Amino acid sequence: MIASVRKAPRITQDAARRILSELYEIEGSAVPLPSERDQNFLITRPDGNKFVLKIANTEESFDFLDLQNRMMQFLAGRKVDLEFPRVVATKSGDGIARIKDEDDREHFVRLLTWLDGECFAEAPPHRRKLLASLGRALAQMDAALVEFSHPAAHRDFYWDLRNAGIAREFIGLLPDDRRNLVKRFFAEWEKIDWRRLRFSVIHNDANDYNILVRGREPSKRRVTAILDYGDVVHSATVCNLAVALAYVILDKPNPIGAAAQVVAAYHEIHALTEAEVDVLYTLAVTRLCCSVCYAARQTRDVPSNEYLNISNAPAWALLEKLSTLALEWPTQVFRYACGLPVLKEAPSQSGRTSSELVSARKERLGSSLSVSYQTPLHIVAGSRQYLYAADGRRCLDCVNNVAHVGHSHPFVVRAAAEQMATLNTNTRYLHDKLIEYCERLTALLPQPLSVVYLVNSGSEANELALRLARAHTAREDVIVVDGAYHGNTSAMIDLSPYKFDGPGGRGCPAWVHKVPAPDVYRGEHRGADAGAHYAQTVDDAARQNNPAAFFCESALSCGGQIILPPGYLKQAFAAVRAAGGICVADEVQTGFGRAGSKFWMFETQGVVPDIVTLGKPIGNGHPLGAVITTREIADSFANGMEYFNTFGGNPVSCAVGLVVLDVIRDEELQQNALEVGQYLKEGLSQLQQEHPLIGDVRGLGLFIGIEFVRDRETLEPAETEAAPIVERMKERGVLLSTDGPFHNVIKIKPPLVFSRTDADVVISNLSSVLKDFETRFQSTNCL
Ligand SMILES: Cc1ncc(COP(=O)(O)O)c(C=O)c1O
Repeated sequence: MIASVRKAPRITQDAARRILSELYEIEGSAVPLPSERDQNFLITRPDGNKFVLKIANTEESFDFLDLQNRMMQFLAGRKVDLEFPRVVATKSGDGIARIKDEDDREHFVRLLTWLDGECFAEAPPHRRKLLASLGRALAQMDAALVEFSHPAAHRDFYWDLRNAGIAREFIGLLPDDRRNLVKRFFAEWEKIDWRRLRFSVIHNDANDYNILVRGREPSKRRVTAILDYGDVVHSATVCNLAVALAYVILDKPNPIGAAAQVVAAYHEIHALTEAEVDVLYTLAVTRLCCSVCYAARQTRDVPSNEYLNISNAPAWALLEKLSTLALEWPTQVFRYACGLPVLKEAPSQSGRTSSELVSARKERLGSSLSVSYQTPLHIVAGSRQYLYAADGRRCLDCVNNVAHVGHSHPFVVRAAAEQMATLNTNTRYLHDKLIEYCERLTALLPQPLSVVYLVNSGSEANELALRLARAHTAREDVIVVDGAYHGNTSAMIDLSPYKFDGPGGRGCPAWVHKVPAPDVYRGEHRGADAGAHYAQTVDDAARQNNPAAFFCESALSCGGQIILPPGYLKQAFAAVRAAGGICVADEVQTGFGRAGSKFWMFETQGVVPDIVTLGKPIGNGHPLGAVITTREIADSFANGMEYFNTFGGNPVSCAVGLVVLDVIRDEELQQNALEVGQYLKEGLSQLQQEHPLIGDVRGLGLFIGIEFVRDRETLEPAETEAAPIVERMKERGVLLSTDGPFHNVIKIKPPLVFSRTDADVVISNLSSVLKDFETRFQSTNCL
């Protein structure tokens, strides 16, 4: 069954040129290309046009070559964003011709058009977009091939991963010290229940020399073609992706992270089943194991064939690296990539029903705590941008910005668990991670922001910022923006109009001075100079009150997802500084790439604050916060009284903080926020054209607000409409919530792994809900 390389054709370059001329009436040069079983020549015509002359192994049947030709033609006619080689007919019109070699053996010959591009293997670095484009290409191909069939695909083929047992026979040829490594992976392959997988015709050889890439800049590189149909077989569909992954993970510092990018993109186009996800890693490693086993066998048989060894050394290095990983870990990462609960078996719950939990909450928790939605959600698992309810329902999370890099991101979980299992103490001991984290954070901030205090929450961060400001200025008063929320401590409640002006609030304290929210939609100033007008209100407050500080969120969250007008902070900061105060940017909601165009939202205003406070996304759900300030302000605070925070900056928090920064960088989440945010905003603006209820759509990156109004002229807020719309979206599995002084703004600030498909889900569901809503309103004239 193994096509012997001894039966590979032996055609000289001269003979290749003759074949070309006689069969195809094409003149050109013929340069041999590497191949395991066949013989391929790159043909270049004098006019520069290129072709591949493919001379098949004597064992290759006509039917099988016909399958390859038909498959390429089939795919070229489908919605697959790839180029496919065209079959050039002989002068007598055949797609497949016959020739005899010097030993009088018959071979089939085909001539295909040449596709330009670099090999994936030779186009590092493999950035997120390139990996995602590979995932998409494979998914489109597999999705199209569901409708393709050919009798020759139903063959017994040794590279079919179902037949990995054939490769296993050669384990004895491997070096002694490596045999066990491979055996362990084959043992996992043996456990695969193939009946649970879907079957179709698959390409089966998207190795890194068969994938073509184009694009000069690394960030713009895309997969443009997948070549070589010589391994096509009818098998488990997931094997196609597994084969590609086996090569994607070669030579990568973070092989599983790279593979996850491909898997996530694939899944978005052609969803994998849970059974497929769970065997994907085993199949990918099995492919590597087959590769080293067949290479050992063929090296024994034909020691001179270089091609056989091309991927051998990296494959061994990789197998050794992978053997140090817990077997279940890559599968957990792939499950996460597909938004499945990371653990197959979730830890058991108490078994209480939702209503029992509600009653127990009433008894045991302070009643000042609310619960989201009329029928509260009982969430038992999170993965990526999804939350899973106890009844198994999956919800698309559009609001929990805390899970910044994705719910239960396995890299974050692992970093926390490993550090927890190693050491967790406090910042009075020396620790590498504490320093590394502070260095990494400050490297992301502009000078002179260079001194870090690590705390446990956004409230604590702002509380400390207030102390720093007061210590530095020896003043007490603070200017805040109307509608703002800065935290839950006593001082922060006093500093949060959202609280002190709301139910149970005691009004604005004497040391706090409110300025209007710089709202260009319903505020007093709306034109191009709105930023300057609103900044003037800060100037006025600063001149009148000798402030210690001006606290301002870099985009207003509770205030109604308001993006600051251009020039606002620049002018406001200048006024506050001129009055002797310092400027605090509360980035608790907005930091870490959410803005898309910038890593920090304050950068979109072109300013450098004196203090920046961080929280929520910083630890992806682990309680962590930070205050970053200048050396000068930090020195003013060092008046002899120690600032110590028991948990702030502990090694686990630092490990988590570090890995969150890694993931944001490696998964290019800021760029994703930019692109998907823009796409979502455009879709919502389109909805706005169709639904008068939507008065305004605003946002930067994945920080978006949709403001509902009853009348676009008067801007009468749709105070009671937004909440039921949010409820209905929840019933459809899309989690949103409301904000703003009139609770008429729907906020969207999802984990940054949010995709275009997710954006489409939000838009189509919101469209249906709004249509339904408007129909009812028209028939009953009430909402
Ligand atoms: C802008 C802003 N600052 C500070 C905080 C307080 O953060 P935490 O709840 O982590 O104490 C919040 C919380 O919602 C916030 O939105």
